[in-house]
Amino acid sequence: MKSPSFRVGRLRCDYLDQPLGLDERVPRLSWQMESKRRGARQTAYRILVASSPELLAQGQGDRWDSGLVESDQSNQIDYAGRPLDSRALCYWQVSVTDELGSVAVSAPTRWTMGLLNRSDWTAEWIAADPAALERDAWAKVPTLKQPGTPGWFRKEFTVDGEVRQATLYVSARGLVEVSLGGQRISPDALVPEWTDYHRRIHYRTYDVSERVQTGANAIGAVLGDGWWSGFVGWQETRGRYGDLTNSLMVQLEVELTDGRLLTIGSDRSWRMDIGPIQTSDFMRGEAYDARREQAGWNRPGFDDRHWLPARVVAAPKALLVAQRSAAVGVESMLEPVSMTKLGPKQFIFDLGQNITGWVHLQAKAKAGTTVTIRHGERLNPDGTLYTSNLRTATSTDTYVFKGEGTEVWEPRFTFHGFQYVELVGLTEAAAGGAVLGCAAGSICPPAGTFNCSHAGVNRLWLNGLWSQRDNFLSVPTDCPQRDERLGWTGDAQVFLRTATYNRDVAGFFTKWMIDVEDAQTPAGIFPDVAPRVKEDKNFMGLDDLGGAAGWADAGIIVPWTLWRVYGDRRMMARHWPAMTKWLNYLERTNPDGIRRRKLGNNYGDWLCIPTDTTFRTHSPMKCLLATAYWADDAAKMERMARELGKKADERRFRAMFLRVRRAFQKTYVLDNGRLSVETQTAYLLALGMNLLPEALRSAAAERLVELIRDAGWHLSTGFIGVSQLNPILTQVGRADLAYRLLLEDTYPSWLYPVKHGATTIWERWDGWTAKDGFYDVWMNSFNHYSLGSVGEWLFRHVAGIELDPDAPGFNRFVLKPYPGKGLSRAQATFQSSQGEISSSWRLSGDTFSWEVVVPPNSSALISIPTTGKAPVTEGGRPLRRSPGLRSFGREEGWAVCRAGPGTYKFRSTWKHPVR
Ligand code: BGC
Repeated sequence: MKSPSFRVGRLRCDYLDQPLGLDERVPRLSWQMESKRRGARQTAYRILVASSPELLAQGQGDRWDSGLVESDQSNQIDYAGRPLDSRALCYWQVSVTDELGSVAVSAPTRWTMGLLNRSDWTAEWIAADPAALERDAWAKVPTLKQPGTPGWFRKEFTVDGEVRQATLYVSARGLVEVSLGGQRISPDALVPEWTDYHRRIHYRTYDVSERVQTGANAIGAVLGDGWWSGFVGWQETRGRYGDLTNSLMVQLEVELTDGRLLTIGSDRSWRMDIGPIQTSDFMRGEAYDARREQAGWNRPGFDDRHWLPARVVAAPKALLVAQRSAAVGVESMLEPVSMTKLGPKQFIFDLGQNITGWVHLQAKAKAGTTVTIRHGERLNPDGTLYTSNLRTATSTDTYVFKGEGTEVWEPRFTFHGFQYVELVGLTEAAAGGAVLGCAAGSICPPAGTFNCSHAGVNRLWLNGLWSQRDNFLSVPTDCPQRDERLGWTGDAQVFLRTATYNRDVAGFFTKWMIDVEDAQTPAGIFPDVAPRVKEDKNFMGLDDLGGAAGWADAGIIVPWTLWRVYGDRRMMARHWPAMTKWLNYLERTNPDGIRRRKLGNNYGDWLCIPTDTTFRTHSPMKCLLATAYWADDAAKMERMARELGKKADERRFRAMFLRVRRAFQKTYVLDNGRLSVETQTAYLLALGMNLLPEALRSAAAERLVELIRDAGWHLSTGFIGVSQLNPILTQVGRADLAYRLLLEDTYPSWLYPVKHGATTIWERWDGWTAKDGFYDVWMNSFNHYSLGSVGEWLFRHVAGIELDPDAPGFNRFVLKPYPGKGLSRAQATFQSSQGEISSSWRLSGDTFSWEVVVPPNSSALISIPTTGKAPVTEGGRPLRRSPGLRSFGREEGWAVCRAGPGTYKFRSTWKHPVR
């Protein structure tokens, strides 16, 4: 056989690279062909899954041998082998045949199964002995107003044989950091992640084979508050889950080479004490006294006679589930760009970037020296730290030195949103070099890059990426700094497409959609925030966080988008009953087809211009918006039903869409194509959600343009309208205007904050203005991604990497860039399920040069911008003579063809339209 001209790589199991401890009984396997050859396609595959690497090496798939399957599918193939039990080790590889008949075999990889049954857990849930707090005047006894003191737990054990393999499972109500033999078992932070703890609690699985030794061993665990018992949301009180006791469960399973199995589980033989962390809380920060460290506490041989026995507490009733998305951790460390002295022992560090995370402190000082670290996103005009927009989050860490050489410290169970750090308590010599910023979040794999000839636009894209990194922390939060940090559904849905271009967020949203469904009410109402937080009537009268239009509809939009972008059918199928329940609810509550009842907190086009932050009030605009979302939900459901083969549902939702659309037209659409409610967003929704009679679309589009003109050629959209603005303008033939809005840098615009030094997306257009300074502190975050949803347009229309309307998952996709005034080049890459798509264009004079990469095993419908009749070439040849291209056509302004895998270089003549 000839050696293949391709490789097989990027093997993933349920979106993850070598996941451990899955509890999905039918995992889905994916891979990619890697080749630069034109036309490289998969014609067949064979998957082998074995219970040991040896069997796999011998070509024996004792768990599953798919046999040779003639198919080009390489994305999300259901495992169809022998049923998988708890702890199953699954070593797998795939061999792929290409269209030339050559075969390439992937490197072997693996996944493992977790503990699938309750009875697999023999460990017990343990908690601190309250006596430890009482005997220690220093410790803070938790109260509703006072964060708790983390507890430190330890257990020694002996291994009397040679270790073949060791696996550690850990869960907590609270946050836990585990170490073995004195070292953390993983860089994961804030474990386990946030879910509705009444319903499900995550556990994590770690391979610790290298850490467990023959002879004496010790496990250490530090247990803090986090989402379970700390302050979450507006800081009224802690303990959203009704229980202030943190607890943990650890189960370590050690397999010896002689076949014996040792299990070390948490129980009352574990010992605990109060350690150096006096308090730790997301909103309030962490207080650490290094003088209270007990050297060797997590290593064998430590004298723990003064420690107390751990207390066994009842196991939770909630489901214990495996984590299925990338863990939270530190993704990068930033060096400050400046240090400014404010006073004796008072310094401000500027990281040059607004991040989420914490400070890595490294300094020398005398024992007992206290350093106070405060965090802020901006500075006051006098150069001091601006913190009033954090509301009640004090976001302050303190560290007390033990006085032993250079001390290094990072807080464990808190995070802050900040660009500036104020350090108080160190001399100038000690403070210099003392601070690094740790940028933390859910580490979703990179997916896209964007770059163009305009520095401001590049920064805008980067700001969106940073706001995504900063806010995707276990759940998609609204902001990382003030006392809120909740999984707001509206923000998440509006930014989702942008998010998918920036990062691989498939696993992240698979997890979060479960949170969304967990938060659905029995009546079918999807939430405004997920995980649901205990309703807090004290907060601005918000007592029912559910059902708001544009927010709750995320329950439909998330599965829809994951299907469209990643080809994920399982998610639609799993959440189908919940999605149906939501539409039943809308129909039940709004029988006349206009969504005007039960609008919950009814935020409307939140933060549009003129600023509208009213909620719980009704207005025609809000009903229009709600009705449009309902119609669009129904249209999406119709399409998804078709995909899932649910014929009756398809008919039902088609009829629902038409009925709501009719009601919309009757209520809001006038004969001349105008709407009875005139805002930019109203027109964007009507056009983007297909709610207008065909004959009136162009009149409505013209009116939209007039409204933009009347606003002095500025946008006025809020959270909801903003994501539609440039895509719809482009769709209706006004890409030139989309560019104009993109490049506008006077208030209000995307580039206004960029011009004023923003390094993340601001919550509001007027977060800070030259005229008025900072907006009112009650709601003014500088790190909210919603208004950054224009990132989607940069990829879809500027670079032109777009979904095929009829095919999910980028197996088939569209390449169609819209050049525009102000950019002389643009370039983007995107990691699709089939591999990297790339588009890079340049306009010099009237010559448009464009290089694209179509990954193996996919195809693209390509539209090359061209004006007039000048010839369009690829690789210097007429299109028709270029190998790899077919199905040629012309449309007004475009030369069209279909391309198979490969790299293509197009050239055409293109002139800016004259208006
Ligand atoms: C949050 C949002 C959210 C909104 C609801 C705010 O407090 O920060 O981003 O979507 O409330 O209108």
